[in-house]
Amino acid sequence: MKGRTALVTGGSRGIGAAIAGVFERNGARVIAPTREQLDLASDTSIDDYIESLREPVDILVNNAGINRLGALDEIGHDDFREVLQINLMSALRLIRGIARGMQSRRYGRIVNVSSVWAFVSRLRRITYAASKAGLDGLTRAVALELAPNGILVNSVAPGYVDTELTRKNNAPEEIAVFKSQIPVGRLAAPEEIAEAVAFLCSARNTYMTGQTLIVDGGYVCK
Ligand SMILES: NC(=O)c1ccc[n+]([C@@H]2O[C@H](COP(=O)([O-])OP(=O)(O)OC[C@H]3O[C@@H](n4cnc5c(N)ncnc54)[C@H](OP(=O)(O)O)[C@@H]3O)[C@@H](O)[C@H]2O)c1
Repeated sequence: MKGRTALVTGGSRGIGAAIAGVFERNGARVIAPTREQLDLASDTSIDDYIESLREPVDILVNNAGINRLGALDEIGHDDFREVLQINLMSALRLIRGIARGMQSRRYGRIVNVSSVWAFVSRLRRITYAASKAGLDGLTRAVALELAPNGILVNSVAPGYVDTELTRKNNAPEEIAVFKSQIPVGRLAAPEEIAEAVAFLCSARNTYMTGQTLIVDGGYVCK
């Protein structure tokens, strides 16, 4: 990653902070905008941010994400729209804005952070599961379009990761149950997800594109 510039969304904490750390240790220069600089809920903010970038971006990681829990009768359309905007639409908008430069330089690596809930499901994860399945579909379609220009586009789908998001959405007793359901017997550390993202974003990835790499300690194999 030496000499490459990486833009990582949601880099303030959790998986995004770990991705920024691993990228820096691998020699990349990392841009991790705060929400004040780049608010993914706002198309204007995204467009303004892309316009404000003063250096070429070689690596883009669409990591920021939110989860609004709710059963069919509980989720409002505004919640659904908000989750789709932040988890899916903003990724497309950033890719479109940033891939232009990558195409002209004929090099780029893009990773979208998806989830195992794109593959298997759990009660009250309707909006989240739909957004992450959409993100994986977007990954494949964009990968096809950008492959001829040296741009590789993949998703990484984490299982349970020990972050604020997980602790907010699950009680400690629930987390204890997850551990018993994960073949490796524990949640992932954010750095374990970051290492997979780093490989896909590095120059060592020369041929993998359009894929979703599941990093879940074996959870979906059960
Ligand atoms: N944790 C898990 O177990 C798990 C499992 C599978 C997939 N994932 C996915 O992994 C990614 C990171 O998850 P995490 O657990 O690290 O999440 P987290 O700890 O909740 O952090 C979320 C990040 O997204 C940013 N963000 C949220 N809304 C934003 C907005 N409107 N504009 C800009 N940034 C915004 C937050 O910024 P602020 O600091 O400003 O709030 C924060 O940096 C997400 O896409 C999540 O769906 C997580």
